[in-house]
Amino acid sequence: METVKHVPVLFDAVMAMLQPRPGGRYLDCTVGSGGHAAGLLQRCAPEGRVLATDADPTAIARVRARFGDHPCLTLRQCWLDEVPALVEALGFAPLDGVLIDLGLSSDQLEDATRGFSFQREGPLDMRFDPTQGMPAWAWLDRVDRVVLARVLREYGEVPNATRVAEAIWRARPIRTTTQLRDAVSAVMRMRRRRIHPATQVFQALRIAINDELRRLREALPALMALLAPGGRIAVIAFHSLEDRIVKQVFRAATRSAAFDYGVAPMAQFRLITRKPITPSPQEIAANPRARSARLRVAERVPVLQEEAR
Ligand SMILES: C[S@@+](CC[C@H](N)C(=O)[O-])C[C@H]1O[C@@H](n2cnc3c(N)ncnc32)[C@H](O)[C@@H]1O
Repeated sequence: METVKHVPVLFDAVMAMLQPRPGGRYLDCTVGSGGHAAGLLQRCAPEGRVLATDADPTAIARVRARFGDHPCLTLRQCWLDEVPALVEALGFAPLDGVLIDLGLSSDQLEDATRGFSFQREGPLDMRFDPTQGMPAWAWLDRVDRVVLARVLREYGEVPNATRVAEAIWRARPIRTTTQLRDAVSAVMRMRRRRIHPATQVFQALRIAINDELRRLREALPALMALLAPGGRIAVIAFHSLEDRIVKQVFRAATRSAAFDYGVAPMAQFRLITRKPITPSPQEIAANPRARSARLRVAERVPVLQEEAR
């Protein structure tokens, strides 16, 4: 078995919320290194099925190596917003549970060739799927400085975004992770900060390069419409903008105006988590990358309750 570095976040909470059962059908849209998928597979086997997807071909290869030819597992490389069409094409709906665990895995972060980490010298790529689109260094070559400042401000909540954007813009051409880190460090002070200033800049660029917020916004209602009555969707977000999208789509789906967000009018949902579930101090101590995780869960109203309305 290939070595996996990623430790699944909020594993017990996800299993408690999705309640995977023997014979059920589960969709893991961000399989990563397969941590949550392992729990789903174990609980739904031998009759159940897990469809696991990820935009990253390396993640798919890693999970394939981890589970071999598991009879209950179907693996496909696919962007989040393309998953609903894949589910339809495979005839995999209705679903008993859906998991979306956003962001990136430790295995991606620690692979210097992917360009996600300012702590590792490597090409500034940042694409989840390196076979498509533009690497971050090429995007920086072409970007307008006003757009760059907006990306830093909105996706990274970078203080003095205009100044930081200006510094990055002037430092171009930037080809590597450490060149970007150094351009940022020159204008952002480390003092009184819990995290390195480059953290927010790298996060902002990654979100922009992979168009992560649009994909989430489009995918969520379409995935919810594929749930069986009583089926649940669980989303772990690591960023306030992601969490806000999840909260808004879930809220809308619990109201009759649910179709404002594209959820089928007949699809009625209830919130299982009024407030997001967050990791315990013990989990954060053991896995500091869990610190900003927020888990929200919604359930498609079981048939009897739907009829009683
Ligand atoms: C935090 S990791 C998932 C870890 C996984 N739950 C586990 O336990 O191993 C997030 C994964 O989602 C993928 N990902 C993030 N955004 C995506 C998107 N918009 N479409 C498809 N995959 C995405 C990343 O490539 C990464 O592998």
